[in-house]
Amino acid sequence: MGAGGKDASQIQSEVKEYYGETLATTSDLKTNACCTANAPPKEIRDILAKVPSEVIAKYYGCGSPLPQGIEGLHVLDLGCGSGRDCYVASKLVGPTGRVTGVDMTPQQLEVARKHADEYASTIGYANMSFVQGTIEDLSAIPDDSIDVIISNCVVNLSPDKPAVLKEAYRVLRNGGEFYFSDVYGDRRLPKALTQHKILVGECIGGALYEQDFLRIARRVGFEDPRVLDSAPIDVKDPQLIELVGEAKFTSVTYRLFKLPGLLESLCEDYGQVAVYKGTVPGHRHAYQLDDHHRFETGRPMLVCGNSAAMVGDSWLGKHFTVSGDRSTHFGLFPCHFSPSADAPTPGGCASCC
Ligand SMILES: C[S@@+](CC[C@H](N)C(=O)[O-])C[C@H]1O[C@@H](n2cnc3c(N)ncnc32)[C@H](O)[C@@H]1O
Repeated sequence: MGAGGKDASQIQSEVKEYYGETLATTSDLKTNACCTANAPPKEIRDILAKVPSEVIAKYYGCGSPLPQGIEGLHVLDLGCGSGRDCYVASKLVGPTGRVTGVDMTPQQLEVARKHADEYASTIGYANMSFVQGTIEDLSAIPDDSIDVIISNCVVNLSPDKPAVLKEAYRVLRNGGEFYFSDVYGDRRLPKALTQHKILVGECIGGALYEQDFLRIARRVGFEDPRVLDSAPIDVKDPQLIELVGEAKFTSVTYRLFKLPGLLESLCEDYGQVAVYKGTVPGHRHAYQLDDHHRFETGRPMLVCGNSAAMVGDSWLGKHFTVSGDRSTHFGLFPCHFSPSADAPTPGGCASCC
């Protein structure tokens, strides 16, 4: 059974109806949960200018989960909708990369597929495919086969979020990453709200209490979730405001690395140093790993073991040089301060350096 008596398939059919029939374009939304608050960087805006207008009109994302520096990689988009982020990723991975979009709503996929050939002629190659299915069951995708998973405002809509995270972990290669934006609440909502058709459809009702999300992520193997950025959500509709009361919602872009055996529950100091090479397109001067690690190009930065693994042993490895190993342990990493970050790390030390 799903939340509050509705079973998972009922919740999924209501969500399908919402995205397949109720909403026609972004302007039909009753909150800004499915609207991106932070403007994407210039390189992404330049690509967006080439994406067909119908694909853009049916964009319902809440962040910008579009990593750069991913040439040649295989990207999977969970809940791709009309495909906006797949179209952008298609350009970012280039002709030697691949993009697969998965969504359960036929009307959304129809739009994604309709413009794919025209877009392929615009960019000069075809590397996208779209699959109808649910993100709780990715059995069509082999284990350890995906470099980067992206997703934009979708996991909250799932009636079985642990299954989604487990599947994401399964299909990622070691060193792969789940880089995604979603909505989180500052509390657990009453059951009635978690099954309210409009609140769920608007990406609010199903939003996880953020601490519960972190527990699930760690349990499936994503040991050290990192926040990249976040923006508050504005519930615009007066009836929905009345329903949610004092609960507050935020759109957050998380980075979850699959690095089995390399991520620890706390940040440990092995004296490792990471240097960013300045090679991620559009990020010549600095690279933002998360909200408290900004690597200036060429500047050595003392990092904890987890951060060293994230930049050295993941798909990011070609963009960094990491020196040192884990042969000598110097104790807990002093994570109240990050050498090239501007400010003290907020929120204490657990898995944060
Ligand atoms: C808020 S929209 C976001 C779409 C797209 N990511 C974008 O940014 O425009 C949510 C999408 O997730 C899809 N979806 C929701 N739950 C799903 C599930 N359990 N399995 C597969 N797709 C799902 C819906 O069909 C819809 O297209």
